[in-house]
Amino acid sequence: MEPLLTVKIPGVKKRYSGKVRDLYTVDKEHLLIVSTDRISAFDHVFPTGIPGKGIILNKISNLWFKNIKVIKNHIVEDNFDNFPKPFRDFPELLKDRAVIVRKTERIDFECIARGYLIGTGWKDYQETGSVCGITLPPDLQLAQKLDAPLFTPATKEDTGHDINVPMEVMRARLGEELAYRLGESTLRIYEYARDLLDRQGIILADTKFEFGFADNEIILIDEVLTPDSSRFWDKESYRVGTSPVSFDKQYIRDYLETTTWDKNSPPPPLPDEIVMKTIEKYEEILHRVESVFSR
Ligand SMILES: Nc1ncnc2c1ncn2[C@@H]1O[C@H](COP(=O)(O)OP(=O)(O)OP(=O)(O)O)[C@@H](O)[C@H]1O
Ligand SMILES: [Mg+2]
Repeated sequence: MEPLLTVKIPGVKKRYSGKVRDLYTVDKEHLLIVSTDRISAFDHVFPTGIPGKGIILNKISNLWFKNIKVIKNHIVEDNFDNFPKPFRDFPELLKDRAVIVRKTERIDFECIARGYLIGTGWKDYQETGSVCGITLPPDLQLAQKLDAPLFTPATKEDTGHDINVPMEVMRARLGEELAYRLGESTLRIYEYARDLLDRQGIILADTKFEFGFADNEIILIDEVLTPDSSRFWDKESYRVGTSPVSFDKQYIRDYLETTTWDKNSPPPPLPDEIVMKTIEKYEEILHRVESVFSR
């Protein structure tokens, strides 16, 4: 199977091409989002795709969207057979990879929930003893579970490098009430998914959500609880102090750390073995999420 790296729908103008997803305008109120097989790490898109990744991401996101009741979401149609023309004429590009969503006015923050100390949170903690301005107890270890999950915002930057910021920055930009509601929704969704995944032997270490406004309502948008937006760890082999076995992009990040790539120049192609292993991990987490909802 060849990876789908670029989507071209004849006669339809693309509205936006993100690192992983491409957006088309359906009508005044709706967008079509296609998940490609592109993969990004450290904010760079790789020349090598992961065949079938977009389909896996789309399936995982849609399962969560159907089941999360904490807040409304943007999905309008996830069944390709019900797509309007001209989109319905392109099953080879869109089937199982695309959704029609409500167009929203995006809130330009990534809303992150962290249950464990890892990634940029761990880096921040080692340098400052805090994460996004939240002071933590001393002597915490890598991958340690936090007493309570933290809400930490990051600003969405056009350059692609999102920046972790203290809650005060979000309050100042969005107002007290909206910032509070985003934090509450983020933590409630995180806790809901964390508890369900725990029963499938998965630790949800952290995850990131995006929200938007439509008709004065806050709506959950983008993708949810996928291996592109979350860290999923194997519960059985988890040991505090060590980097956990994970079903997400970590395998690629770890591989890249063994190369000479400086994260500031065009990224290198990925070896077959890394591609295969990544597909396996993404498939594994799809199966676990399907098991969550299979009864
Ligand atoms: N319902 C929606 N209304 C408006 N924008 C949306 C909606 N759902 C998702 N988006 C936006 O669509 C894009 C999805 O593409 P992708 O995730 O590949 O982008 P990205 O590389 O992460 O870029 P960005 O930094 O712009 O989010 C994102 O910019 C996301 O914010
Ligand atoms: Mg994105």
